[in-house]
Amino acid sequence: MTKEAVLARYPPAPEALLALLHDLQGTNPGQYLLPEDLELAARHVGLPLSRVRDAVTFYSMFSLRPRGRHIVRLCVSPHCHVAGAWSALDELRRALGVDVGETTPDGLFTLEFTSCLGACGVAPAMMVDDEVVGNLTPEKVRAAIARYREGR
Ligand code: FES
Repeated sequence: MTKEAVLARYPPAPEALLALLHDLQGTNPGQYLLPEDLELAARHVGLPLSRVRDAVTFYSMFSLRPRGRHIVRLCVSPHCHVAGAWSALDELRRALGVDVGETTPDGLFTLEFTSCLGACGVAPAMMVDDEVVGNLTPEKVRAAIARYREGR
């Protein structure tokens, strides 16, 4: 979808900002926002560029740097923290060979932290793209990564 087509989907109102940014991000290979995207969004919804930049840097779903084809987001909010998110992180580091905030050399995965995914009942949890993977054990982490590596 083109950036113009994305803009046409949203009313010129501040309430549309987050959804608009999300879709603009999707127009770029590497799932990130270019400076021109922030300017487009600010003009479209009628907010100062500084407010748009604040939103982009506050929410972990947005990135200003290119990311991998699959985004792995490990929840580190209290339920997941207590339930073993750090063990899952160790396994993710091993399985991917990168640390948080990094992208695998093949461009396939980016590893990030996130706040609560709304899946506390299956903590510890992570999200791979739009899929929640819960009750994480080292085996489940390895299986999920292997599945996405093989094309899901
Ligand atoms: S605290 Fe991790 S999903 Fe809610």
